[in-house]
Amino acid sequence: MITLLINGQNHSVDVDPETPLLWVIREWLGMTGTKFGCGIAQCGACSVHIDGAVMRSCSVPVGSVGAGKITTIEGLSPDGQSHPVQRAWLAHDVPQCGYCQSGQIMAAAALLKETPKPTDADIDAAMTNICRCGTYNRIRAAIHTAAGEA
Ligand code: FES
Ligand code: FES
Repeated sequence: MITLLINGQNHSVDVDPETPLLWVIREWLGMTGTKFGCGIAQCGACSVHIDGAVMRSCSVPVGSVGAGKITTIEGLSPDGQSHPVQRAWLAHDVPQCGYCQSGQIMAAAALLKETPKPTDADIDAAMTNICRCGTYNRIRAAIHTAAGEA
């Protein structure tokens, strides 16, 4: 049995410790805001925070998390829209199909925690998530809007 602290709540799951964290979050615990894209740590759709750092949960064995505090998109803000990054995303109408966006938002929130006023170069270096709809310009603009508030 493995106990995970996700969005402030403990969840116990009976899974192989090698199971990817993403599978546990989505399939065992039913939190489907975190998406499966590539499964090989390339696209960022599965991004969550572990102790505040952004991690690609498809490539994190659940047994390696230990007492780490996991935050998913469902736990980023109490109402799902009031984190400064979420507000900026709404203001800039960032999503197109939306599939990559929870991962983009989690990556942006982690970036702003580390670097409250990022330059375009900081954003380009940190935001390596793939968006097949090409929303990159709006993502960058929204990060600038959220800067200093996150
Ligand atoms: S699904 Fe994890 S990085 Fe693509
Ligand atoms: S909004 Fe469609 S993949 Fe990013």
